[in-house]
Amino acid sequence: MNEPYISGTVTEGNENIGANEESLRMVSSQPVGNEPVSDEELRPHVLDGFIGQPRLKAQLQLFLDAARKREVPPDHILLAGPPGLGKTTLAMIVANELGVPIRITSGPAIQHAGDLASILSSLDAGEVLFVDEVHRLPRAAEELLYIAMEDFRVDVMVGKGPGASSIPLTLPRFTMIGATTREGMLPSPLRARFGFTAHLDFYPVDELEKLVERSATVLGLALEEGAAHQLALRSRGTPRIANRLLRRVRDWVIVHDLPSAGPDDVKEALALYQIDAEGLDRLDIAVLNAIVRNFNGGPVGLNTLSAMVGEESETVETVCEPYLVREGFLVRTPKGRVATQKAWDHLGIRPKDDVVNKLF
Ligand SMILES: Nc1ncnc2c1ncn2[C@@H]1O[C@H](COP(=O)(O)OP(=O)(O)OP(=O)(O)O)[C@@H](O)[C@H]1O
Ligand SMILES: [Mg+2]
Repeated sequence: MNEPYISGTVTEGNENIGANEESLRMVSSQPVGNEPVSDEELRPHVLDGFIGQPRLKAQLQLFLDAARKREVPPDHILLAGPPGLGKTTLAMIVANELGVPIRITSGPAIQHAGDLASILSSLDAGEVLFVDEVHRLPRAAEELLYIAMEDFRVDVMVGKGPGASSIPLTLPRFTMIGATTREGMLPSPLRARFGFTAHLDFYPVDELEKLVERSATVLGLALEEGAAHQLALRSRGTPRIANRLLRRVRDWVIVHDLPSAGPDDVKEALALYQIDAEGLDRLDIAVLNAIVRNFNGGPVGLNTLSAMVGEESETVETVCEPYLVREGFLVRTPKGRVATQKAWDHLGIRPKDDVVNKLF
């Protein structure tokens, strides 16, 4: 039996994991490198091409069909969900399905209310205004947006000081689409002004498989039976990760002069990047190792844990943990992080006595 407790620092799986590791992680849900560009070629342009999320698609289809029949721009739409699940893609699909142009901006890009006022006042009738990271709008811009969304009006300030006055400017009817990864940070008056809110959720393996097959066709890569499944298993429920891993498999196929990629090619190519069969990478494994080997399964405080794996606590908390918790490897308790039986099994270590059950 393996000795479950090793004192000192974690020595397995955490070499070279530095503060900037997130930008290098193959399983990051944020876009890395030139991905904003390469993402474009894989973006579906019509709702039919959007894989998975069947309920959301049906709701959105109805919503758009009704607006088309009534010949008015649809109500404002809020797209909420973790990074890489298709919010930007859906916003573009909506504009495309409506046959209208889309104007794209984001919360952090708008520094003053005036920036937003000038965008709003230049919109054409029916146009879609996409505001990414809408939870990061400055306060004054947010208030201006309330009036614009509700009354299709902006109040333009003329002059300065005591002589300043505001002139109401009527806007054409437009559709605002807001995207957010932090719905909880949206003030309720803003949330209330969206007629339709779509919550995007992580994709199950069978949907990711279809997504991988579609992307492989777009990339001109032949996949053998079972290859898409192996890719889907490692994609952490996230289309952006699935597409990224697929590109690495394409590299493998090109370099090895293969006519197609089989399941073993996928496994080998991704093992090179230290991504295991459950989609865990080195940082995830380092976190689990720290809890299991150094703290006999926990509980461990976030700061201690982060220091042990040499990573910023925010990265561990927002990048690693959500997936580990969702997949049942780790539990957050008031006393700290605790490894589950599944984590011990995954690391191939038997806990001493009944240590896991005693922790809960
Ligand atoms: N349901 C889907 N079907 C097909 N491709 C998808 C789907 N969802 C996402 N993708 C692909 O995944 C990539 C990332 O999607 P997208 O940029 O829309 O994510 P996002 O939710 O806007 O992420 P972020 O929060 O980081 O802005 C894109 O290349 C897109 O083509
Ligand atoms: Mg986006």
